[in-house]
Amino acid sequence: MLKRMGKKYFIKTFGCQMNVYDSGRMARMLDEMGLKETTVQRDADVVVFNTCHIREKAAEKVFSDLGRAYLIKQERLAEGKDTVIGVTGCVVQAEDAEILKRAPYVDFALGPLRYFRLKEVVEEIFNKRDAKLLDTEFSAVSKFDKLPENKAEGGCSYLAIQEGCNNFCTYCVVPYTRGVEMSRPVEDILREARRLAETGSVELNLLGQNVNSYHGEDANGKERNLAYLLYKVAEIDGIKRIRYTTSYPADVDDDLIRCHKELDKLMPYLHLPIQSGSDSVLKRMNRRHTRDDYLRVVDKLKEANPAIGMSSDFIVGFPGESDDDFKQTLEVVNRVKYIQAFSFKYSRRPGTPAAVMEGQIEEKVKKERLQVLQDLLFSYQTKFNKDSVGKIMPVLFETKGRHKGQLAGRSPYMQNVHTAADMSLLNKIVDVRITDASTNSLSGEVA
Ligand code: SAH
Ligand code: SF4
Ligand code: F3S
Repeated sequence: MLKRMGKKYFIKTFGCQMNVYDSGRMARMLDEMGLKETTVQRDADVVVFNTCHIREKAAEKVFSDLGRAYLIKQERLAEGKDTVIGVTGCVVQAEDAEILKRAPYVDFALGPLRYFRLKEVVEEIFNKRDAKLLDTEFSAVSKFDKLPENKAEGGCSYLAIQEGCNNFCTYCVVPYTRGVEMSRPVEDILREARRLAETGSVELNLLGQNVNSYHGEDANGKERNLAYLLYKVAEIDGIKRIRYTTSYPADVDDDLIRCHKELDKLMPYLHLPIQSGSDSVLKRMNRRHTRDDYLRVVDKLKEANPAIGMSSDFIVGFPGESDDDFKQTLEVVNRVKYIQAFSFKYSRRPGTPAAVMEGQIEEKVKKERLQVLQDLLFSYQTKFNKDSVGKIMPVLFETKGRHKGQLAGRSPYMQNVHTAADMSLLNKIVDVRITDASTNSLSGEVA
């Protein structure tokens, strides 16, 4: 233990909420070792980059960050301090042994299904400085069984209930980096949910790459769906708000739609990516839904809860996307009137079927389409935010605000809300009267 006294760790997270969740679990492992978290990379004895491979930019950023970490390591060495550099997450899985060639100063690299070994690996490196480790096994065993208990870090927690994806959309690396779909057993999830509630969470966001295809076993070995799990989580007293993400349109069943009618704790907001509004593009993307299938699901959700706000992901410039295909995406936006959305230029990912498809779109066209799409999306988002002015909304305060004396939190619709509020309201759900709105945030006063 002595050797580790006063040692600090720094974790930088790229990518999706699953990575944020994984980073939290890794932090708890390093806490258990007696290390302290720091937000200043230079002060850290152990630096971990939890990486994302989804688009080229995200993946390349990792290598520039790693190069910078190596420079900092050398500067620290001159001061007599050593630094352990580790990489985890989807880039490790995708690059495999290449990662140690491209960044030979990396001490360990663990794939997203293998980070449960973090403690053991760091321990080994502390004891034997020249130890180097790469583990990208695609194991069938669940990493969740091997992790120390989870603990809330604030009022709002992520909880992974499902991992991996069997959909193989032709543009996407996730099935290759996270493996096939795996659902955690119901009881394990409920245990973690109760523990998160006991340690201070009032909101849970159930996570999965394809969360609504959840099919975990209950205590009697019976397979249960996401709707069943939502009802069970809603029974936990301390949990006041529930969300789930990310859903696959073809797997939204009637049980799940009923949850949006019956469960008050389920927030009236759903992220349901369509990717494109053109059936021929969807087909080449290998999505198992058409534009009309998607719109039917949205209509049913709105019928179940008229207050629901929709969000989506979009890809522009997928191979072969014509002006007319793109226009159909804009039509879907005008029909659904998303209150929030994420949109990306198609990025060619090595090893995926779309990377070698004919009709790759030139950068200039992708850029123009993205601009047009985002202008339209932002107009609906801004309108929704402006319409919130004058309303009273329950806000879960999650962090300190931009200015002194302010707290920032989220409305039921995931809008960012900044409010002058006392620190004692942190991690609490408080009624806020919305006084002002812009595209990306709201401000208000405690009602
Ligand atoms: N499992 C989720 C999210 C997957 S990744 C889902 O199926 O919706 C998050 C988003 O990144 C995707 O929804 C998609 O819009 C985008 N994305 C994935 N691969 C991409 C690529 N090669 N180029 C551009 N965007 C991509
Ligand atoms: Fe990727 Fe498609 Fe799976 Fe989402 S559903 S993770 S986009 S393969
Ligand atoms: Fe990125 Fe892996 Fe998530 S590629 S988006 S971190 S599943």
